[in-house]
Amino acid sequence: MSTPTTPYWVAGRPRTGTDPVEVRSPHDGAVAGRTTTASAEDVEAAVAAAHGVRAEYAATPAHVRSAALDHVSRRLAERSEEIAALITAESGKPLKWARLEVARAVSTFRWGAEEARRWSGTLQRLDTDPAATGRMALVRRAPRGPVLGIAPFNFPLNLVAHKVAPAIAVGAPIVLKPAPATPLSALLLGEVLAETELPAGAWSVLPVPDEVAARLVRDPRLPVVSFTGSVPVGWSIRESAPRKHVTLELGGNAAVVVAPDQDDDALAWAAGRIATFAMYQAGQSCISVQRVFAHRDVAGTLTERVVEAVQKLVTGDPTDEATDVGPLIDEQAARRVEGWVDEAVAAGARVLTGGARDGASYAPTVLTDVPADAKVSCEEVFGPVVVLDPVDSVDEAFARVNDSRFGLQAGVFTRDLQVAFRAAQVLEVGGVVVGDVPSFRADQMPYGGVKDSGTGREGVHAAMEDLTEERVLVLTGIPV
Ligand code: SIN
Repeated sequence: MSTPTTPYWVAGRPRTGTDPVEVRSPHDGAVAGRTTTASAEDVEAAVAAAHGVRAEYAATPAHVRSAALDHVSRRLAERSEEIAALITAESGKPLKWARLEVARAVSTFRWGAEEARRWSGTLQRLDTDPAATGRMALVRRAPRGPVLGIAPFNFPLNLVAHKVAPAIAVGAPIVLKPAPATPLSALLLGEVLAETELPAGAWSVLPVPDEVAARLVRDPRLPVVSFTGSVPVGWSIRESAPRKHVTLELGGNAAVVVAPDQDDDALAWAAGRIATFAMYQAGQSCISVQRVFAHRDVAGTLTERVVEAVQKLVTGDPTDEATDVGPLIDEQAARRVEGWVDEAVAAGARVLTGGARDGASYAPTVLTDVPADAKVSCEEVFGPVVVLDPVDSVDEAFARVNDSRFGLQAGVFTRDLQVAFRAAQVLEVGGVVVGDVPSFRADQMPYGGVKDSGTGREGVHAAMEDLTEERVLVLTGIPV
């Protein structure tokens, strides 16, 4: 039986274009699904509908928006196995991680529903000066306008959820462009959104090439752009739309610091977490562990244990329940990682395990003695590679973490509260995780980076603030 063509979504309605798109698994090239590129007329219709519905949508009662978000959360949970299989099929993400992604998306939409109910505003007294006696201000937040959401391939559902759920929660129309490699999960989300009572025009999901997205970035009817993806594309969006509100969730080379206070049990925990979260999703997360700075007192033991744990990871077929590490998104990505590791080795790095490519897969790789200017250390690898480096003090480790053009999240393994607070104070990142890897993310938490890692924050409530601006209503003649 031939694979049916999945429609895209224009102002809440299914549409099929004439330009076919075939989505294949990076693992074995099997067809994961088919869709079509959104036609120029449909792209225009989606943008015009978003622009046209903006005032009506912003005025929708909270119960309508929260009911829609609750519905999506419930339906994703009901269809979780089917959706996890789809994520695995289109992205090569191992099933165990795909299941986790669906569970996170369920929670992202549930948080959206809860936040939509709480979204109120504040009352500010103004009678602090004689001229304002009897006056008060009601400070609420209004949508900045329709949003262009551009999502990446590495979390084809949950990073789409992080664009869509906050937009629904505040009543901002959204035109969503999924990643070209992984449009199917976002299109399935469209199917679930279409079951809600949201007004037509409130949302569209358009598989379009990057050139069309570049035009949409400049379209004044979409005054907000929320982008997750690569560093150069992110900053070029910001430069090409200087008058827009632009949120950028970009890359990172996330670091871990291991303090000398870690005993044997703590080191075993740290090593297991580092091994797992350097390699999960084949390293294709902006907060996967890339650099580890361990104090010299514990670095030897930690290194042995990390290597041991990495060697135990099961690699291969992502549809197999036991698989920990699957392929990268395509062979080109794996070749790039291979080139970067080879370059580091040529400059003196030692491979402690891994270091081999097979098609789109790259073996989980642990490196040491890596020169500081090697790409595997100072650029974002976005592959299953971790660099271990001993340091002489926690302060040196903190300096090394900061010696990066990125700053997304960092992990600090310590039992010392002083070290934990100092880390939070001095590390130039959007978030510090104490007692775990930087890869930890709860979906309600503000999430985003500094420096080249981007600007603005996601996390449902933080994104709702980002998509809106303050509107003040001053009331006069109010008895105090
Ligand atoms: C990302 O790659 O930036 C997202 C990480 C996550 O949501 O866990």
